Amino acid sequence: MKKEEFLSSRHWRYATKKFDPDKRVSPEDLDLIIEAIRLTPTSYGLQPFKVLAIENTKLREALREAGFGQSQFTDASHLLAFAHLETFSEELIDRFARLVREIRNPEPEKIEGYASFLKTLFGSWTNDEKSRWADKQMYIALGNALQAAAELKVDSCALEGFDIEKANALLQLPVGLKVTAFLALGYRSTEDKTQHLPKVRVAHEDLFVRL
Ligand SMILES: Cc1cc2nc3c(=O)[nH]c(=O)nc-3n(C[C@H](O)[C@H](O)[C@H](O)COP(=O)(O)O)c2cc1C
Repeated sequence: MKKEEFLSSRHWRYATKKFDPDKRVSPEDLDLIIEAIRLTPTSYGLQPFKVLAIENTKLREALREAGFGQSQFTDASHLLAFAHLETFSEELIDRFARLVREIRNPEPEKIEGYASFLKTLFGSWTNDEKSRWADKQMYIALGNALQAAAELKVDSCALEGFDIEKANALLQLPVGLKVTAFLALGYRSTEDKTQHLPKVRVAHEDLFVRL
């Protein structure tokens, strides 16, 4: 891949403030973005999060209110909610071990040993530590989804600007799941002036340090 090609989608994307409410993301592109989320690497491979597509119009309007009126909540073609596990039991590790057995058919002692190592490790963590760790893993998926969308020339805006308590009360998720970010997907409105602004980023030398 050429340098220009590599950088072009990264320059093309921007946090879309105003979506065109009449333009829809195709099911094929949506599936690819969701697949990029599914393929996201996570610590120990445990994938401690879920992604929900919010399709109910009334719910999206209520979320917009919880989101300080940000129009992306209602005007984007699709709204994905990123929810991480607030805590988890050994069941999460058993799920992973089950998948490894099915997919890789490993020597039984190897996967049992690994699962028992993970159970001991997470067994010593508080719910707070588990929640923070799960939230971090979830954000890797959000980052991947942002880039996947850009590669497909689908506009997006990650959304953290909302009242977490209100939004979670509206969503009524099963106990143990907490939404900390949304991803609006769609197509930019021609009226969105933000698209013409140059990127604001720190200089290379302020970000990368050689030791
Ligand atoms: C996790 C996350 C949360 C964000 N939350 C919001 C938000 O609530 N509203 C908004 O308009 N932009 C939001 N943004 C967009 C950022 O402000 C934007 O990505 C950043 O300023 C860089 O600009 P660019 O994405 O246009 O290159 C969010 C971005 C990220 C990554």
